[in-house]
Amino acid sequence: MRIVSGMRPTGKLHLGHYLGVLQNWIKLQGENECFFFVADWHALSTSYEDKLNLKKLSFELVKDWLCAGIDPNKSTIFIQSHIKEHAELYVLLNMISPLGWLERNPTYKDQLAQIKNKDIHTAGFLTYPVLQTADIILYDAEAVPIGEDQKPHLEIAREIVRRFHHLFNCEIFVEPKELLSQTPRLLGLDGRKMSKSYNNAIYLSDTPDEVWSKLRAAKTDPQRVKRTDPGNPEVCLIYDYHKAFSDEETIKKVEEGCRTAGIGCVECKKWCMSAIEKILEPMRQKRETIKDEEIEQILQEGEKKAKKEASKKMEQVNTAIFEISCKVE
Ligand code: TRP
Ligand code: SF4
Repeated sequence: MRIVSGMRPTGKLHLGHYLGVLQNWIKLQGENECFFFVADWHALSTSYEDKLNLKKLSFELVKDWLCAGIDPNKSTIFIQSHIKEHAELYVLLNMISPLGWLERNPTYKDQLAQIKNKDIHTAGFLTYPVLQTADIILYDAEAVPIGEDQKPHLEIAREIVRRFHHLFNCEIFVEPKELLSQTPRLLGLDGRKMSKSYNNAIYLSDTPDEVWSKLRAAKTDPQRVKRTDPGNPEVCLIYDYHKAFSDEETIKKVEEGCRTAGIGCVECKKWCMSAIEKILEPMRQKRETIKDEEIEQILQEGEKKAKKEASKKMEQVNTAIFEISCKVE
């Protein structure tokens, strides 16, 4: 299958991204033709005032991907703004995208209600799903791995494809389907959504000391005051982390040890640390060996491959729109 997915470059990746997105991408790249890109234009839609260094952030994002196991020999990796065809298709799709579809988008409405510290009443933010549609259909993607919040965007993408086919009387695009990640969302160490702004995340690039100081400080079952008090793992975040990262045997030991006060919370956190380190340590080693020039090289290669696909598709699109004589190869 042809797969396309993107991530906005808004900062370093954490364990939540790894479980929810990256693991999925890594699995998919084995058996599919994958295009993974940095959605730097999309980042601007909410952060145009933030003076982000998007070039640096994009580079760091790709580095995180590579450390986590995205393999440039299997996947095509590139930066959205390097392929101008995304913008060209976006302009054309905007001409045929009804405002009602965009204004009714539940993700859009949620964000407008939630984001209060930024002014996102912009054309760019309203038409975010149109650009996302261009990202996807430019490459004939059949499937798009996304989180639950992105489902309405895929719905809009399919609607735009159908409308295009109808208006220009030719079928040149693939209707993409979503691949929802199965893993439940990992909460931050304070029980809130894992996020940079809450300072509650363990990053893929954290040192062992940083990981441990975050784990050590994390709240556990509040009823378990003394070491001899039995605890309830179901109300403890550390147990969630065990379920996400530890093996069956350790999870069982935690469950029993906690309920019977057979283990202390520090010991329990140490086990959790070693499960997390099994994932992070190889990433750290990879980070040591990977050179900036290598990343430049990977991005150049990716750009070439993406550009080839994208320009081929834009020829079809422009023929369909401007010559109204659609030829599908
Ligand atoms: N909107 C996506 C997100 O925030 C990022 C994205 C942009 C994307 N373009 C895409 C994801 C195309 C999948 C396909 O997560
Ligand atoms: Fe949480 Fe583990 Fe302590 Fe139980 S023993 S309260 S699961 S940290």
